[in-house]
Amino acid sequence: MPQSDIVIIGSGIAALSAAYHLKNRKVVIITKSLWADSNSMLAQGGIAAVTQKNDSWENHYRDTLIAGCFHNDEKNVEFLVKDGPKEIKDWCQKGITFDTDENGQFLLGKEGAHSQHRILHAGGDATGLKVTSFLYQAVKASVTIVENEMATDLIIKDGICCGVYTKNEKGEITQYISSKTIIASGGCGAVYGNTSNAEVITGDGIAMAYRAGAEIADMEFIQFHPTMLHVNGRCVGLISEAVRGEGAILVNQNGEAFMEHKHDQKDLAPRDIVARAIFDEMKKGNNVFLDISCIKNFQTRFPTISEICVRNGIDLKKGKIPVAPGMHFLMGGIRTNDKGETSINNLFAIGEAACTGVHGANRLASNSLLEGLVFAKRVADHINSKPVVNEKKVFPNIQEECCETLKISLPTKKQIQEMMNKYVGIQRTQAELNYVINWFMRYERFFQNNNVKNFTKEEIEIINLLTVGWLIATSASMRTESRGGHYRLDFPVADDNTWRKKQIIRTKQEMV
Ligand code: SIN
Repeated sequence: MPQSDIVIIGSGIAALSAAYHLKNRKVVIITKSLWADSNSMLAQGGIAAVTQKNDSWENHYRDTLIAGCFHNDEKNVEFLVKDGPKEIKDWCQKGITFDTDENGQFLLGKEGAHSQHRILHAGGDATGLKVTSFLYQAVKASVTIVENEMATDLIIKDGICCGVYTKNEKGEITQYISSKTIIASGGCGAVYGNTSNAEVITGDGIAMAYRAGAEIADMEFIQFHPTMLHVNGRCVGLISEAVRGEGAILVNQNGEAFMEHKHDQKDLAPRDIVARAIFDEMKKGNNVFLDISCIKNFQTRFPTISEICVRNGIDLKKGKIPVAPGMHFLMGGIRTNDKGETSINNLFAIGEAACTGVHGANRLASNSLLEGLVFAKRVADHINSKPVVNEKKVFPNIQEECCETLKISLPTKKQIQEMMNKYVGIQRTQAELNYVINWFMRYERFFQNNNVKNFTKEEIEIINLLTVGWLIATSASMRTESRGGHYRLDFPVADDNTWRKKQIIRTKQEMV
């Protein structure tokens, strides 16, 4: 039975940076595939942070709240935008580099709903890859990284999290006993078919925390990225918002720039607004393109995107990239406070798996890597402030529990994705939500069972997708208004009297 002070589940920017900042602790990172399989590695646009005198934390704070439709946790937003520049400066001193001009000044991008150019980027559009790889190199000698082992169930005794069960590729189950467990396993992109997320992002940490009794919040708020590369009816890669930041505009097949009259910020309006405008165009039978003809040196500025386009048969010389919205980011997740603490003792959550409230109902572009860095540091500082001594004494004697066999066949991943795309997509209605909730309820026993480790890895992923899909659908059905990433055709406006800053918080107990 491996013993460590801290177990971290996940290997993206939040996981690696928490591991880096934890001092004098034995840290184990557990990931179900290879360490590099994360959304962080795929992040293109960059990291939003105030680094210039003509900008201010107040501007960044205001942009974050406006994009978030004022559903944000204001205190945590303040931590984000004030601590962000310090974190960036520290990491630059440690050796992370961002793109600069010939005078060594940061080249700053602009993305949707930002009032200023403040997006730091690296390798043009390979920011996530560059930053995450740097963090990996910084921790790999001091931290144990266990790959190809899936966290299945949290070990909870007397309301305290004492570690996690895992399952490896051979099907062997291991108990990791820890004094603190940190979930940093990302969101749940795979619950929708069309997603910018890595394939491995199946909502594992959120589902596991829910089954263990943790509070889960804001699950109805899903960010659909407006511009995913759309080929043969499928979304096959991300076309960063930074492309619109450099001047590209959205047009339909008739060349109409349809964002012109939709919002003051036009093509750089908040993501939920742009995604819905594209969705409406497509509902009318129109095809939508990003007109990139005004961007000089497109391939130099956006090498990753150019490669994705070429790989998918797009001729960039024609100046038009076919796009459609796809699932990109979950604003909700495991509810935490400003130190990453969840409602279960000794269980923490960071990154996209967490709901710190910083993103409100719609995340401001390029605030996610920033959140990963800032809140990983906050969690690490908090844990570092606690004594290490004798922590092992509190570990209970954990008995192997026997797994109840659930004799009901699971749906396929594709079936779940089809249900979510069709009934819990960019536009929602009560009738459709009721239909999909009924469908999910057939599998209800799986959401309640904090003991899935005897299923195969593929089955556990399906159970996790069912759990998060059901949480999204039921939360969407409860919120009878439209706000940010939650749009109801039957309640099309924000209802500030009833819903402003009111979170839908889910716990397993409520269903029993
Ligand atoms: C993008 O580059 O458009 C995505 C960045 C983000 O989601 O913040």
